[in-house]
Amino acid sequence: MTTTTSIAKTESLTEQIFKAATLLQAGKNIVFPTETVYGLGADITHSAAVNRIFQIKERPITHPLIVHFADLEQISYWAENIPSQAKKLMEYFWPGPLTIILPKSRHVPYYVTGGQDTVGLRIPDHPVAITLMKILGLQKAVVAPSANRFGRLSPTAATHISDEIRSNVDMILDGGSCKVGLESTIISFCDLQPILLRPGGIPLNSIEEILKQNITTSLSHNNNVRTPGMLASHYAPRTPLEVWPTETLQHRINELLNQKYRFAILSLSDSLHLPYQTTEKPVKRFECYRMPSDPIDYAHCLYAKLHQLDNKRYDRLLIEMPPDLPNWLAVHDRLQRASYHFVMR
Ligand code: TXA
Ligand code: MG
Repeated sequence: MTTTTSIAKTESLTEQIFKAATLLQAGKNIVFPTETVYGLGADITHSAAVNRIFQIKERPITHPLIVHFADLEQISYWAENIPSQAKKLMEYFWPGPLTIILPKSRHVPYYVTGGQDTVGLRIPDHPVAITLMKILGLQKAVVAPSANRFGRLSPTAATHISDEIRSNVDMILDGGSCKVGLESTIISFCDLQPILLRPGGIPLNSIEEILKQNITTSLSHNNNVRTPGMLASHYAPRTPLEVWPTETLQHRINELLNQKYRFAILSLSDSLHLPYQTTEKPVKRFECYRMPSDPIDYAHCLYAKLHQLDNKRYDRLLIEMPPDLPNWLAVHDRLQRASYHFVMR
């Protein structure tokens, strides 16, 4: 394992991207920005670099990685038996926060797919990622999971990348804060009907509109597919996180105040009663943030807020449960996984 090269301030972004491409070609690992979250990348043809991703993330090697590429015309190089419905989605949503699972071609090695015959493919909508992959050239791809330890919060800014990841990669390409801020939506086309494997950056109803059909969201008949983002506990901060409906949140706040806990609240309403806190105290007992009421804006800042609050070492993070509406599906999914044992309904 090598140490991170700190990028000289005088280097232009283009120079940095060229340097990142050279590192990938030499079989090294880099962190790069996408519009969803930062990825921990390797050149698809370098098996040692791909294997190192699993070690760095501490992720089981049987869990497949997404293959990122730059040019839609290259799709049949990576996948086979592509249904017309899948093509429709690619044409409409790529580049963008949508991962499509298809039968893999012989160009996708099994060390990328965790031994499965399917591959997750995505053209990301980020100029840095696209430039990087264009420099690598045709028939090249960057495999990458989110650049976090297995089960932890994905980074949506370079500053979120943990020391453990930092010390194990050769470069971090800083492309600013990710405009979507939540991982891609994953749709599988490996069964007779398309199946939603993970809600994410593209809302399900937008996909259904393009396909003119309803999408199955149940995973029950799809047990062979290993999608760790769908494990019950995932995307979690270190601080225990509790999600409460509006009606009971105040009660929980009162309990924590009585128990002298330190906590932070991500609220959606104005109705909470919090005691006056003197600003002279060096450490706040609690703090409350009003989150955006629009699900896309909420998703955009959720991970950033959780990263920020996690660093403050509160005893608890309290989240006001968002509305039970279809366009909040991806946010509900992440909150449920981040809270796991703490969801109170
Ligand atoms: O937005 C994203 O998707 C980000 C950026 C970096 O592209 N990537 C990301 O990767 O979230 P990761 O590995 O953290 O999550 C991808 C999910 C995993 O749950 C993985 O198991 C699943 O996609 N996946 C990948 N290939 C698959 C396949 N062939 N079949 C089923 N699930 C697959
Ligand atoms: Mg991930």
